[in-house]
Amino acid sequence: MEGTLKIDTRFLEGFVSQKDLGDISPLLNDAEKLLAGGKGPGSDFLGWMDLPERLSDREITGVENSAKRLSGQSDVIVVIGIGGSYLGAKAVTEMLLPDFKDKKIVFAGHQISGEYHRDLLDYLKDREVSVNVISKSGTTTEPAIAFRAIMDLMKKKYGENGIKDRIVCTTDRSKGALRSLASEKGFETFIVPDDVGGRFSVLTPVGLLPIACAGINIKDLVAGAREMRQLVSSGRVDGNLSAEYAAVRNILYRKGKKIEIMSNFDPKMHFVSEWWKQLYGESEGKNKKGIFPAACDFTTDLHSMGQWIQDGERDIFETFLIEEVEDKALAVPSDADDLDGLNYLAGKQFSFINKKAYLATAEAHFEGGVPNISILFPEKSAFFAGELIYFFEKAVALSAYALGSNPFDQPGVESYKKKMFKLLGKGLS
Ligand code: PA5
Repeated sequence: MEGTLKIDTRFLEGFVSQKDLGDISPLLNDAEKLLAGGKGPGSDFLGWMDLPERLSDREITGVENSAKRLSGQSDVIVVIGIGGSYLGAKAVTEMLLPDFKDKKIVFAGHQISGEYHRDLLDYLKDREVSVNVISKSGTTTEPAIAFRAIMDLMKKKYGENGIKDRIVCTTDRSKGALRSLASEKGFETFIVPDDVGGRFSVLTPVGLLPIACAGINIKDLVAGAREMRQLVSSGRVDGNLSAEYAAVRNILYRKGKKIEIMSNFDPKMHFVSEWWKQLYGESEGKNKKGIFPAACDFTTDLHSMGQWIQDGERDIFETFLIEEVEDKALAVPSDADDLDGLNYLAGKQFSFINKKAYLATAEAHFEGGVPNISILFPEKSAFFAGELIYFFEKAVALSAYALGSNPFDQPGVESYKKKMFKLLGKGLS
C-alpha cells in the first residue's frame, strides 16, 4: 500500500499556537544538531539512528536462516527477555499476526510469576520447542531465571546435545553471563551492538529474530524504517514528523500537560503502546522531569477511563494511533425483526463504525479540554510497523534532548534491583 505516516493536529487549536511552534523550534533544531553531530549526552548509544541503513543483506539473511531453522523444527518458539529485549518483538508480532490462532511465538522472563512459568512449562512439555533468549547485559534476573527453568525442561526433553540446535542467544559480543554460557554450551548467538540501547534495539537481532520466527517479513520492516529515517532526518521542524511530534509534546508539557495517553481503537495495537510506554518512560522520566506515558485501548477503555479523560484533572493530552484503511472484515448483518433497533447499521462495516467512534472521541475529548493529535498510518503491515518504530525512536530522542535529559540511560531502573538483591541475599552464600 502506498502512503506514509501523517499527523492530524486539528484538535490542538487553542492549546498550541504557531507562535508556540516557532518558539520551540530552536530547541528542536539544537536537539537535531546534537544527534547528527553525536555531541549530546548518551552519544555512545546513537547506533539505532543508522541501523536501517547499516543492516547488511548478509545480516538479515543470517537472521532469516536461523528463524527458518527454529521455526521448521518447532511447534513453539519461546522468546525470553524483558523490557527492550522483548517489547519490540511483542509489539510487532501482536500488531501483525491474526488473533485466535495457535501462537508460534510465546514470551517468558518478562516478569517473575511462578504460575505463568509453571503453566508455560506444562504447555511446552508435549510440544517441539526452541528458545531465543535475549539479554544485552546477559545478567538480568527475570530472563535469567526463566531461561534456567526452561533449559532444565529442554535438557530433559532433548538431552545436553539435543538442546544445542534449539537454543539461540542474543547478547553482548563479549560480556555477561549469557555470553559465557552460550560459548560454554556452543549455542548459536546473535550480537546486540554496543552502541544500541535495549529500548532502541528492535531493528537488531533482538527484535528481528523473533519477528522473523513469527513469519513476518523483516526486510519490509527494515525498509519501512529506512523510508522513515529519510523523512525525519531533515534537521528542520517543518515537515519533519518526528520533530513535529516532539515539539507538540514539549509545548503541551510546558503548559502543564504532564501525562500523555496513547489511545488506539484496535486491540492489535495494544503492545505498540506498551513498547512506546517503555521507550518514552525510560528515555524521558529522569531528574524529576518528563511526561508520564500512559495508554488506553478504545473503545474498551471508554467504558472505564472515558469518564476520567472527558471530565477529570486537566493535566493530560492524548495521542491517537490510528490505522487509516477501513478493513472489510465484518459487516453488521440485517435482521428482519430489528428488535435491537440496529438495522440502521445493517451492512455497515465494524471498521466504519469504529472510525466514527474514533472521530467522535477525538472531538469530545478536545471539547472536554484534552488537546489531542492523531498519528495516522496507512495500514498494519511490516513496512508501516518499521515506519512507526523509527518515527517514535527519533521523536523521543529529540523530545528528551529538548527537555534537557539524556534519552539513552536509565539509572533509576537500578534502584529496585539493589533492594531486591539485598532481600534475596545475593552474594552472601
Ligand atoms: O531499555 C533498556 O535498556 C531496558 O529496558 C532493558 O532492555 C531491559 O532492562 C533488559 O535488559 P537486558 O537486555 O540487559 O536483559
